[in-house]
Amino acid sequence: MKHILRRFKQHHITADDILKAGSVPKHVAIIMDGNGRWAKKFGLPRAAGHHTGMKNVKKITIAAKTIGVEVLTLYAFSTENWKRPKEEVDYLMKLPQEFFPLEIEDLEQNNIQVRMTGSKEQLPEFALKPIENAIERTRHNDGMILNFALNYGSRLEIVHAAKHLAEDLLAGRIHTDDINEQALNDRLLTSDLPDPDLLIRTSGELRLSNFMLWQLAYTEFWFTEAYWPEFNEPLFYSAIREYQNRARRYGGL
Ligand code: IPE
Ligand code: IPE
Ligand code: MG
Repeated sequence: MKHILRRFKQHHITADDILKAGSVPKHVAIIMDGNGRWAKKFGLPRAAGHHTGMKNVKKITIAAKTIGVEVLTLYAFSTENWKRPKEEVDYLMKLPQEFFPLEIEDLEQNNIQVRMTGSKEQLPEFALKPIENAIERTRHNDGMILNFALNYGSRLEIVHAAKHLAEDLLAGRIHTDDINEQALNDRLLTSDLPDPDLLIRTSGELRLSNFMLWQLAYTEFWFTEAYWPEFNEPLFYSAIREYQNRARRYGGL
């Protein structure tokens, strides 16, 4: 642990460095990965990793807010995560009822709007209620959007968008010529959000795991070996600092 923290700490980038350097990504998305391996490293059960990971969410939320990020999306549970052992899924489903009562006042005071991107269908009531309450309680805030990707899967999202297009076509609400990028985008769960400018994935995995395949078409990617429970502000700001040095060309020159 000490060795790893030392290795991560050398960045020492601060919020001030970011703000002096120029533009900040409007939408940052994070695949919060590595809770289980973090726990294993300390001989703890995987649930302890998820718990410590949950405790890390507020710190990074405040770090993002401090530099003026407009949307922070956190991938918390994928549609494929249901494949995990029941015991682990049960534990993960309990996290919203732990997180929101604990953090809602701070989120409110920080003018943060809570949102959710994902399918509500399979989620148990006890997992959905706390997030729905938080969405309702923060609805009138106009600061940073804290968007939880919960029971989210990108391919399923695109399939649903395609179905909506088909229904609209069959009902005569649109014509074939109306099917374009905007029309599909409008039928995604993220239709009211800008595409992510920066994607961060922790834990050293270099893949998307079915996260926002459409929305990430021109997003900048940043990866770290750090597991999510040990991800911290200096690392977050290093990612932003690196983003500021990237040239986004969108296929142009
Ligand atoms: C991320 O950590 C949290 C979720 C996917 C819910 P993991 O549970 O995937 O941890 P690792 O990847 O097994 O270490
Ligand atoms: C992606 O992590 C999902 C979340 C972080 C919520 P996974 O741990 O599920 O991804 P894979 O299985 O390693 O690709
Ligand atoms: Mg994982």
